[in-house]
Amino acid sequence: MAVKVLFVCLGNICRSPTAHAVMLKKTASLSVPFEVESAGTSASHRGEAPDPRSVKVGMNFGYSFSGINSRPVKDADFNYYDVILAMDADNLQQLKKRCPVPLQYKLKLFMEFHPEYPALREVPDPYYGGSRGFEVVFNLIEQGCEGLISHLLNVQQS
Ligand code: 4NP
Repeated sequence: MAVKVLFVCLGNICRSPTAHAVMLKKTASLSVPFEVESAGTSASHRGEAPDPRSVKVGMNFGYSFSGINSRPVKDADFNYYDVILAMDADNLQQLKKRCPVPLQYKLKLFMEFHPEYPALREVPDPYYGGSRGFEVVFNLIEQGCEGLISHLLNVQQS
C-alpha cells in the first residue's frame, strides 16, 4: 500500500507545491510506493499553477511542477492521507481547527524532519519577499524531504 503524504501551506502556490515536486521526484525510484499531494489552508489561489519564482528555483535543481495546481484542503484529506505536513505553525493551527481529534496524530510540522529542527521550526512564507527567500525555502524543503523520506521508510519497515 502506498504511503500517502499531503503537504500544506497557505496558498498552495509556493512552499507546499515545492515540497510536492521534490517529494514526487525523490520517491519515484523507491521500492515503497508513495502518493504525494499538496493543498492550501486558503482557497484564494485555487486552480493556479505554482508561483513562477518557486518554479524557477525548483527547475534549476531538476524538479518538475507539471500537473501541480493549487487546491484548498478538504475535509476528506484528513481521512485519506497518512501524514499531513504543515509548512508553518499557522498552517498547523488551521489544520488542527478542522481535523477530527482522532486523526490529529497525522498532523505534523514539516520542519520536524529537517536536521536543524527544533532550532528551525517553520518554512518561512516567501510570497512577499525577494528571490533569495525562495532559495532559502527551497533548501529547507529539499533537506526536510530527505529526512521525511527516511522517517517514513523506517516507519514502514517497523
Ligand atoms: P505559500 O505562499 O503559502 O507558500 O503558497 C503564499 C502564497 C500566497 C499568499 C501568501 C503566501 N497570499 O497571501 O496570497
